[in-house]
Amino acid sequence: MAGLPYIVGNWKMNGTRAMLNEVRAIDRAAGRFPRVQVAIAPPATLIYRTRDAAEIIGVGGQDCHVQESGAFTGDISAPMLKDAGADFTIVGHSERRTLHGESDGDVQAKADAAIAAGLGVILCVGESEAQRDAGEAESVVAAQVAASCPQGEQAPEKFSVAYEPIWAIGTGRVPSVEDVAAMHSAIRAKLVELYGDSGTGVRILYGGSVKAENAAELLSVPEVGGALVGGASLSAESFLSIVGAAA
Ligand code: G3P
Repeated sequence: MAGLPYIVGNWKMNGTRAMLNEVRAIDRAAGRFPRVQVAIAPPATLIYRTRDAAEIIGVGGQDCHVQESGAFTGDISAPMLKDAGADFTIVGHSERRTLHGESDGDVQAKADAAIAAGLGVILCVGESEAQRDAGEAESVVAAQVAASCPQGEQAPEKFSVAYEPIWAIGTGRVPSVEDVAAMHSAIRAKLVELYGDSGTGVRILYGGSVKAENAAELLSVPEVGGALVGGASLSAESFLSIVGAAA
């Protein structure tokens, strides 16, 4: 497996300055888990303050624009995220793909822009429930990986894939460990097809209803190199239980 287990909290559109107390608590405790890489992706309004409040953990954005600057009201570019103190950004989350109509090509352009700006990338892929029921989960996800992963020889060192089945996000439902193992192995095969040997070094995270109660089991699945955590990352206590399960 590639690198230390990577446990990342995606706060989505949650969090005001009061949440910096959770950041401080997570950051203090992260020092007790040197064998786990911990990060938070707060809303963009909190990136600068989160960077300021944290010494150990990584800080990330949740999306970026493909252009460096320009007339794109409401958007934030990768160099702006970097300037605000981000180390990485999430791209291609299913909430962006579904609610903002982002295609694989859009996601790939964002990943390329983030890497060009010196950011790491967490690139999300995942099937809908209908696609899984139709037996298409692996082919859908493999096609997403092929069409949305960043380009260039250096890319594999700069990004992780997060497998997030859409039907598991925020629902309390998780795939069986066998299904997670099969999907992560299919993603690995596609990464090796795309990048050759370098594809073996890309971390593949699991996301979708990860909680303290199921984290240890999910993280023990072969090829699961960490977790992208939504709801359970909003309190230091529950997030740290997941970090502890990865240690
Ligand atoms: O990006 C994390 C995410 O979509 C999973 O959310 O709330 O099911 O952990 P949640």
